[in-house]
Amino acid sequence: MTKEELIQHAFQALRHAYVPYSHYSVGAAVLTKDGTVIPGCNIENASYPAGVCAERCALHNAYAQGYQKDDIAALAVVTEGNTVAGPCGICRQVISELMHGDTPIYLANRREIRETTIDELVPMRFGPEDLA
Ligand code: THU
Repeated sequence: MTKEELIQHAFQALRHAYVPYSHYSVGAAVLTKDGTVIPGCNIENASYPAGVCAERCALHNAYAQGYQKDDIAALAVVTEGNTVAGPCGICRQVISELMHGDTPIYLANRREIRETTIDELVPMRFGPEDLA
């Protein structure tokens, strides 16, 4: 699957965003190495911190289906906004635990695609090895 196709899946997932507070929809899609696409979207809550971002939704969904970091080929995150937004700090932490550092992350809006990795987004990070 091309990155453009994965991004289209993320735009499909974005349509399910539940955003009554921010009105800012985000979609995500995890591509697994067996070719499965697992969607995610942001789901807000009247108790604001209880909301979840699209990236975490997709990654947790992938793990709930039995996939782990070795199985993940790529992650796409999209918005309809004018900017190509980077993942928030909490999502960066979760991505750093649940994906390999060099797995491609595609960030996109309707006009632009940026390709990155969690190694690039969070070069000095806290992880499981620090607890060992
Ligand atoms: N949001 C995401 O889904 N992903 C991000 O990386 C940034 C922020 C969501 C959270 C909230 O529902 C809305 O965007 C505005 O912050």
